This record gives sequence, C-alpha cells and structure tokens, in this order.
Amino acid sequence: LTAVNSVVFTVKAVDADGDMISYIIDQSSRDPEFFRVDLPNSGNIVLNKLLDYETRTRLQVIIWAQEANTVEKSNTSAVLTVNIEDGDDHYPHFLPCTPVSPAVPVCMNPTYTTNITQKHQEAVLEFSPGPIRAEDGDRGINTTLIYSILSGGDRGRFVINNRTGEIRLTRAVTARHQEANVTLSVMVCQEDDQLKYSVVSVLIRVLSENTFPPIFNRTTFKGFIVQNSSPASIVTTYGNQVLQIQASDRDFSDGLNPNIHYSILPASGLYQVTNGGVLIARTDQLHAFDRHILQVVARDEESGEEASASVNIEVLQRGQSVPRGAFTEQQMFGDVDSRLAGGITAMILLLFLSAGLFLLLRTVKRRRVQRNPDDQNASPSVGKHPNETSSRTFSHEQESEGFQGRQGVYTRKHSLLPPPPPSSSSSSSSSSAASSSNIISDPAGTFHSDLSPVIERPETLRTHD
Ligand SMILES: *[C@@H]1O[C@H](CO)[C@@H](O)[C@H](O)[C@H]1NC(C)=O
Ligand SMILES: *[C@@H]1O[C@H](CO)[C@@H](O)[C@H](O)[C@H]1NC(C)=O
Ligand SMILES: *[C@@H]1O[C@H](CO)[C@@H](O)[C@H](O)[C@H]1NC(C)=O
Ligand SMILES: *[C@@H]1O[C@H](CO)[C@@H](O)[C@H](O)[C@H]1NC(C)=O
Ligand SMILES: *[C@@H]1O[C@H](CO)[C@@H](O)[C@H](O)[C@H]1NC(C)=O
Repeated sequence: LTAVNSVVFTVKAVDADGDMISYIIDQSSRDPEFFRVDLPNSGNIVLNKLLDYETRTRLQVIIWAQEANTVEKSNTSAVLTVNIEDGDDHYPHFLPCTPVSPAVPVCMNPTYTTNITQKHQEAVLEFSPGPIRAEDGDRGINTTLIYSILSGGDRGRFVINNRTGEIRLTRAVTARHQEANVTLSVMVCQEDDQLKYSVVSVLIRVLSENTFPPIFNRTTFKGFIVQNSSPASIVTTYGNQVLQIQASDRDFSDGLNPNIHYSILPASGLYQVTNGGVLIARTDQLHAFDRHILQVVARDEESGEEASASVNIEVLQRGQSVPRGAFTEQQMFGDVDSRLAGGITAMILLLFLSAGLFLLLRTVKRRRVQRNPDDQNASPSVGKHPNETSSRTFSHEQESEGFQGRQGVYTRKHSLLPPPPPSSSSSSSSSSAASSSNIISDPAGTFHSDLSPVIERPETLRTHD
C-alpha cells in the first residue's frame, strides 16, 4: 500500500577523505525498476512502482556509493533488501477461484448447487462445487470472514453458520416448493472491515420425491422391420403398429417421467431409440431374415435408477407382411421361438387331420361290416403284407374291428389289415382317404395305391392313442 514516489529507505556511505559521495542503483541487480534515486547525494531510495504482496513479497537492489569529486572515483556497494508486508487491499472471494483470464488475477465466484426433496428435514446441505468457503484475497493477513444469507433464507428455513459457511435446512420444503428452485444470496465479509465483502448465488433444486424406479411392463418386446430402400424406418410390432418401448414411473401421475433417457445395448449403430421409446432402424444396413436382440435401458437421469427390457427384432423380406397378432407366439407359447411355435401349430393340425381320417376309416369299415355279417369266424392272421388282399386277411380285420367296437377296449394291435375294395363305392371312399393322407405327406410316397394309406394311417393313430 506504500505510495509511489515515497522514500522507502536512506542509505549512507562514509569516506575517510571526506569526499562528496553520490549514490547509484545498479541496473543489473534484481529489481532496479522498483526504485530510483532522485537526489544522487541524498542516499534517499524512492519507490518507483506500486508494490503487490500477492506477486512479490521481497525485492533486492545493489546500491553503489561513488566519490563524486575525485579523479579516482573510488566506490563501494551494498545490497538493499526490501521485505513487503501485506496491506488489506483485497476483497474476500469464494472458492474455487476461477480467474477472469490468465492475465487478470480476479476471481469469478462459482454458483453452488444442491438437490433436495421433501424428504429432507433437518440436514446440512452439501453443495457442488463444495463446500461453501471463501478466503480473503490478502493472503498475508489472517483476517476472519463472516458468512451471512442476504436473501432467500425463507424466514430461517435455511440458516448459515457465520464462521464456516455451512448451510443447514431447518424445516422440510413444503408442497409449495415442489419442483421449484430456491436461490439464496450468500455474503461473506471481513470481520474487521465489512465493506470488504463478496456475494455468491446458491441454487437449491427442490426435486420431486423419487419413490419408484422406472419399470417396463414386459421383459421382452417383439419388433419387425420390413426391408425397404429408405435409409431409416420405424420398428413396428404385431399388426404393423409402431413399437413403443416405454418405461413407466409411478412417481408421476401419468406414469411418464420426463427425465427418462433411453439407450440401446450393444450400441451397434443399426438401431436408435428416441426419448419417446420408438426404435429407428438403419433399414439400408439390414438383411432379410436377420434377427436382432437388443437391450433397451431406461435411465431416470434424476435418480440414476434404471430398467431394462429386451427387444427381439425380425427383419422381414421386402413385401412380406407383418404378423397380425401375438397369439401363437406370445400368449400360447410365451416367448418360444416362432419357428418352434409354428411347428407345434402344424402338429396340432396334423392331429386333427389324422383324427378326421380315422373317423372316415371307421365309417368305411362299419359299412363293410354291415355288408359282410357272416364272415366273423375266420382264423386270425397277423402280419400280412399290406398288398395282400385275400379274403382271409380281410376276415381277420373284421373280427378285430368288431371286438373293439363292441367292448370299447382299446388293445394293442400289431397289424390292421386293409379291407379290399369289393365295390366301386368303397373304392372311391378309400381313394378320398388316400388323397387326404397326401396332405399329411409321406415322403416315401407309398400311398399311391388305393389300399396302402388305409393300412398305414390307422396304425400310426393307434400309437398316438
Ligand atoms: C567501481 O570501481 C571499480 C574499480 O575500482 C570499477 O571497475 C567499477 O566500474 C566501479 N563501479 C561503478 C558503478 O562505477
Ligand atoms: C442434482 O440433480 C441433477 C439432475 O436433476 C444432477 O444433474 C446433479 O448432478 C445433481 N446435483 C447434485 C449435487 O446431486
Ligand atoms: C489464521 O488464524 C487461525 C486462528 O485464528 C489459525 O487457525 C490459522 O492457522 C491461521 N492461518 C494462517 C495462514 O496463519
Ligand atoms: C455468529 O453466530 C453466532 C451464533 O451462531 C453469534 O453469536 C454471533 O454473534 C454471530 N456473529 C456475527 C458477526 O454475526
Ligand atoms: C404397457 O405399457 C404400454 C405403454 O407403454 C401400454 O400401452 C400397454 O397397455 C401396457 N401393457 C400392459 C399389459 O400393461
């Protein structure tokens, strides 16, 4: 704080001859720019430049004392060391200090922020950046700082410790504060000079209470994408509806938490998810019949809570239509692979067809029994070749049929031998049976004769029973 042009020190040299002495500052010494000598014979060292304790706390110059009126100009020298004491010229500032620019060592105050909810009752608030703390710009003076809340304290709801700067919540925020921010103005000043002060903003975010995590209402979603030439398409689900994968959050009356952010794992670049939970596929990079299983993660950015679900996406061929319903896959078989589900459906169809065939056969046989009532006592003959259509084997068949039909007992039969086609009418019914058995498809192709299918199919059916 010493004023420029004031004398900071007076040097004195003595000469045994009593010669006149002049004093000179050595310009090659360390800090000659801070000092000058106005009157060469006085020895007064004058301050040439403002001092700053915060940049330099000690200066040094060499002073020469030289004979002014002799030919020899004998000389001597001394080192002048100037220790600088701090003066109270700086204001306090809040930490961390962000200099306005590297060249201007003036601090910009931070904004302290914290989050609270209605759940917070009596609590010491923790801030980011934190803690709230200030220091005096005069580093050489250990001055005491006093903190106070200038505005926003809400009649003592927020109080500050005047020595430490710690802010405490004394009463829970009410519904009135919900989803609102509270801004406090906090001042720090020097205890010894209240005009040296600094003010900072403290932002207290009052968040809605988070009781529930986000959830997906199912673990697996089914998506379809039909190949096309556009670069991007929306993934659809059954019935060609837009597939929307949305997590609900019971903290919100409509279940929709605006802070939920969706992301896809693994991040392949083939799919993207919007904040509305709609999937977008890079159609130009997909191939028909591809299947992709993605994991969609919904993250509540406020609480950090996450939910995830998987999406099973099938790429359909160009022009192929999206399945209408989830019945076969979702309700009946759960998440069974659709090909397997298809297989099961085909099997059920097969069973129905077989049962129909069986009934048809029985009708045909009944008719024959009625037509040959006398042939009941023929000897049993087992294991005849199907193509053998003798009357003997035919009789055996009639006996077995009669036994089963009357008793209602289903014994194991090794062979069911075919009825021969005695008349044109029965032949036509067997051929119709054969044609329906073609639907069931026999790869061996043994069903070309009128008789063969009539032998084979019922036997297969018995095994199922
Ligand atoms: C002091 O005297 C020495 C020789 O005695 C000379 O070399 C030197 O330059 C003198 N210093 C000044 C500042 O004149
Ligand atoms: C407060 O909540 C926001 C999100 O709303 C978050 O980004 C921030 O990190 C939280 N701050 C603190 C101090 O927890
Ligand atoms: C400042 O003074 C306090 C006590 O008043 C002391 O605890 C602290 O160490 C001092 N700091 C410095 C840098 O002297
Ligand atoms: C600081 O707070 C204490 C009580 O916490 C009080 O006694 C004291 O007067 C306060 N000092 C100033 C300067 O406000
Ligand atoms: C699942 O949530 C969606 C909305 O994200 C809704 O349309 C659908 O009805 C819900 N399903 C069930 C079973 O709750």
